Amino acid sequence: MGKVIAIDGPSGAGKSTIAKLIARELGFDYLDTGALYRAVAFALRKVDIDIKDDDKKIMDLLLKVNISFNNGRVFLNGRDISSEIRSREIDYYSSVFSTKKIVRDFLLTIQRKLATINNIVVEGRDTTTVAFPDAWKKIYLDASPDERAKRRYLQFKDKAIYATMDEAKREVIERDRRDSNRDIAPLKKAEDAFFIDSSNMSVEQAKEEILRFIKT
Ligand code: DC
Repeated sequence: MGKVIAIDGPSGAGKSTIAKLIARELGFDYLDTGALYRAVAFALRKVDIDIKDDDKKIMDLLLKVNISFNNGRVFLNGRDISSEIRSREIDYYSSVFSTKKIVRDFLLTIQRKLATINNIVVEGRDTTTVAFPDAWKKIYLDASPDERAKRRYLQFKDKAIYATMDEAKREVIERDRRDSNRDIAPLKKAEDAFFIDSSNMSVEQAKEEILRFIKT
């Protein structure tokens, strides 16, 4: 197994942007674990499976799911779903389905398999606590709810997804509440993780601060 740099934090904290930059700078691979949860939610919703459906129905579908990454794009059974998994609907369903043990176990195996060969930067909600508790470096990246809502709103705008600032804020807070309070692998800071609040930092500043920590 190569070196693992694990970054957790709530939505809109800047994890993906910063993790990608750090991976590029250090020559590490990059794994967006949220994209795995989004791809599964997308696959489940495509066949109208809902949270109330039983595990057997979910497992039958998971057995047919093949998620792959190429050049920053996400593929489900060979089809590029990179844009579709960034919708508000998938924001919601990825968080909802991620409370299910059967989904988490399935994706845990995939994440660990992807991290077996090369050095890698992984980011998500439980990468420092559950997926890679022995990671070489652990970081918890946070930002204030207002700042995260603003970033999410701007991301929506950038992708021509309609949402008001109030809706973006409500959805960010609701998702964090669910992701932090679920029974299995909730979002929380690992005791030995380096804490960084990016509310008043540029992407460049947050990246530099994390690189300084990594090099210590
Ligand atoms: O990082 P993201 O916003 O793309 O993640 C989407 C959802 O997936 C998030 O709301 C909760 C879930 N998730 C998780 O439970 N564990 C992870 N390691 C990554 C994401």
